[in-house]
Amino acid sequence: MSELLSRAEIIDRTTQYIQDLLRDEGTGHDWWHIKRVRDMALFLADKEGADLFVVEVAALLHDIADHKFHDGDENIGPAKAREWLHSLNADDDLINEIVTIIREVSFKGAHVNTEMSSIEGQVVQDADRLDALGAIGIGRAFAYGGYKERPMYDPDIDPVMHHSFEAYKKEAGPTVNHFYEKLFLLKDRMNTSTAKKIARRRHNYMKDFIDTFMSEWNFNTKNDL
Ligand code: ADP
Ligand code: NI
Repeated sequence: MSELLSRAEIIDRTTQYIQDLLRDEGTGHDWWHIKRVRDMALFLADKEGADLFVVEVAALLHDIADHKFHDGDENIGPAKAREWLHSLNADDDLINEIVTIIREVSFKGAHVNTEMSSIEGQVVQDADRLDALGAIGIGRAFAYGGYKERPMYDPDIDPVMHHSFEAYKKEAGPTVNHFYEKLFLLKDRMNTSTAKKIARRRHNYMKDFIDTFMSEWNFNTKNDL
């Protein structure tokens, strides 16, 4: 194809493609996750002076082929994004910017650095991480855990603070452990001050949830009635 598409056409076609691809996804990585991340990323981008077009395309494509659903293959997302943008005849600079964001964006373990190399990447990462927090974050975590057939909680299995992406990818512990291994760490890892503020509220709500979960688990007939 040699036709040159406008930015609006690139956005429209990419939106349609991702909507069709992720419409019936059941693990919290569905189209509505992508839409929330896109909307939040554009809000943050506006505040931070990031390039709105790059941010929107990257947000739309960030979960095009997540390693979690492709046997841990971390190259498939960047490759699929490149292929898609290439099919739209997008220019190489744009393609490289987007592919870099997709390669860098994911959480990779408690002790693994996930610094983003552009401001556009920083706001997409913040938006993606904000969607892992709060009421929606709780819902997404249990949806994913159920999909992976994991127990909600097992008091005999401790959370693990991973030192490598390889070890993090292999983790198969109960869903409550994921709160300690990732979700509770995110509020201190936001890139932008606006995201930090939003993260604090969502973090506190999630903390309350886990406190209540534990008090119900450890129900005490003497004190809890
Ligand atoms: P990232 O690329 O940073 O992993 P995603 O958009 O793919 O971000 O979404 C990650 C979300 O998937 C988590 O926040 C959580 O809701 C869910 N998830 C991932 N791993 C687990 C897990 N081990 N247990 C429960 N939920 C998980
Ligand atoms: Ni995501």
